[in-house]
Amino acid sequence: PDDGLMLGIETSCDDTGVAVVRPDGQVVAAAVASQVELHDRYGGVYPEMASRAHVDAILPTVRKVLTDADLRPADLTAIGVTRGPGLIGSLVVGTNSAVGLGDGWGLPVHGVNHLRGHLRSADLDERRVEYPAMVLLVSGGHTLLAHLAGPGEVELVGSTRDDSVGEAYDKVARMLGLPYPGGPAIDMLAKAGTADVAFPRPAKDLELDFSFSGLKSAVSRFLAANPDHPHADVAASFVDACLDVLVAKCRRALERYPSRCLVVVGGVAASPQVRAAAQQLCGEAGVSLCLPPLRWSTDNGAMIGLAAWDYLARGLDARPRPDTSLTIAD
Ligand code: KG4
Ligand code: ZN
Repeated sequence: PDDGLMLGIETSCDDTGVAVVRPDGQVVAAAVASQVELHDRYGGVYPEMASRAHVDAILPTVRKVLTDADLRPADLTAIGVTRGPGLIGSLVVGTNSAVGLGDGWGLPVHGVNHLRGHLRSADLDERRVEYPAMVLLVSGGHTLLAHLAGPGEVELVGSTRDDSVGEAYDKVARMLGLPYPGGPAIDMLAKAGTADVAFPRPAKDLELDFSFSGLKSAVSRFLAANPDHPHADVAASFVDACLDVLVAKCRRALERYPSRCLVVVGGVAASPQVRAAAQQLCGEAGVSLCLPPLRWSTDNGAMIGLAAWDYLARGLDARPRPDTSLTIAD
């Protein structure tokens, strides 16, 4: 059916995202309550504070979205909520709230894999993805490559063995005395520098998997040994190493899996350097590049709502029970 209204709820990390989405990806209304300021002084997400902030934000955010869309609960078809992976306390707030609202409003509640949400985010507002597609997800929580034969037909082809690329950005930013989240600050600084340090590119032997902890440690050792080296040059060298790895893996994935386009999603897709590198790679590989608007690329409720429609269409198990151990295959 092409109509229906899914209320999507996302609370897996530090953003409380809520949206109303149609089965074709049209977003009727959406809002995100961000906690960035709250976590800034800790240099990362503080899990206990995150859960409490979700408790405060979730009902007002649901109310705001329904009001903005001029909808009553009775107009909704169902609720889709992130069940994992993520921070357990944050997931509990989202799933319990969704189940409570579902009970009160007489609506079915579907538990959605957060990663499947990200993979579908590029089709929000309008259909942008040409299938089959290769998706690079680069966020604070995840770094992975997935092949989509069609919407919701997912095959994981590579993931990180340790840190995500966003985590590496955030940790290196901290070493350089930059604020959280580190990505934008590193990007700015890197633009003013020269990539004159040969940090390791751990791309060679991991097939399509990633590893960023070695790079992070190399930056830390370099800074300890060379405290006077210009920080802008260190940042530029770090960004260069990240780009080399991301591009090498994407190129290899595009060679191995038939793909009409490369989709780049997640917070790190905001990086102008990452965007430019992806553009160049796609030109060389002869595939189109799909960069969804950033508001759908970072954590949000709309991608969860759209993924919930996939669960319904494909009859996937969608119990709204929190599970931190989910992989993309679940
Ligand atoms: O997708 P996201 O908002 O949240 C998660 O689901 O994790 O991603 C957050 C990550 C952070 O590590 C942040 O440093 C990074 O995305 N990030 C960036 C930029 N903006 C945010 N990294 C590089 N360049 C940026 N401009
Ligand atoms: Zn995410």
